[in-house]
Amino acid sequence: MKIITTIKEMQQEVKQLKNNQLSIGYVPTMGYLHEGHAALIDEARKNNDKVVISIFVNPLQFGPNEDFDAYPRDIDRDERIAKEHGVDFIFYPSVEEMYPRGLSVSLSVTDRTEVLCGKSRPGHFDGVVTVLTKLFHIIQPDRAYFGLKDAQQVAVVDGLITDYHFPLELIPIPTVREEDGLAKSSRNVRLTSSEREEAPQIYKTLLHAQELIKAGERDTISLVERLKEKLANSITGTIDYLEILSYPELRKLELAEGKVIIAVAVFYQKVRLIDNIILEVPRP
Ligand code: PAJ
Repeated sequence: MKIITTIKEMQQEVKQLKNNQLSIGYVPTMGYLHEGHAALIDEARKNNDKVVISIFVNPLQFGPNEDFDAYPRDIDRDERIAKEHGVDFIFYPSVEEMYPRGLSVSLSVTDRTEVLCGKSRPGHFDGVVTVLTKLFHIIQPDRAYFGLKDAQQVAVVDGLITDYHFPLELIPIPTVREEDGLAKSSRNVRLTSSEREEAPQIYKTLLHAQELIKAGERDTISLVERLKEKLANSITGTIDYLEILSYPELRKLELAEGKVIIAVAVFYQKVRLIDNIILEVPRP
């Protein structure tokens, strides 16, 4: 496994792989790897000759009052995990390497971003698509792997790849959870012990939503109201949003029908957690 810190060296490696007609599976990350990231890496390992991951905490996708500085980082641990899962290259650039000067062209997401995290974190997805455009150009993957834990990110990246003709396949991977149901996240380490104890209620609420829909409830306004009340009563954190939308279009729905996402975000003292489930609800 090679660790590469400069764009130039990464480009040279990619050129060699291309000359040798080797396929590239790519997993973009911000590091502090866990089993969620590992699931993406394992899937990439299965279907590509070479696996590249990037570890880059991208300042552009963090708002001014968000946790860029506090975001957990541990490259030694990440190296060990990456190696165990058969990664061939870690692209690990500095902020200076990726953004040596202000950008002269900026990308701005115009669809699928007026709701959920796009609404709560203005500019976040602009930062995501900007860094991914740079990373896709550097790494030129055949396949790129993204987790459905960040389902809005998958929807936005799908738009980026389609609109800008990136010759790569987006592979979405189901959310990996702790035994108690909490979605794995690099940010979970920033929960206090009592917050960590109650945090599985977020997923429990999503499962409850699934049950209500299975039992025939379709009215999204009443569903959202009931779910918010249930969640608010079972956690000390504050609900940022709980929404039921079409997926991947992320349009508002009167009735929960077709492919729908139920997505939630909760603020705790030092961290904001997100989770979702995606359901296929038969139309009458
Ligand atoms: P990061 O939060 O490190 O996540 C990297 C990838 O791992 C994303 O595709 C994310 O959806 C996936 N992932 C995280 N937790 C997961 C879980 N519990 N189960 C399955 N997949 C999970 O997402 C980012 O970084 C950044 O926005 C990035 C795409 C790297 C751009 O900077």
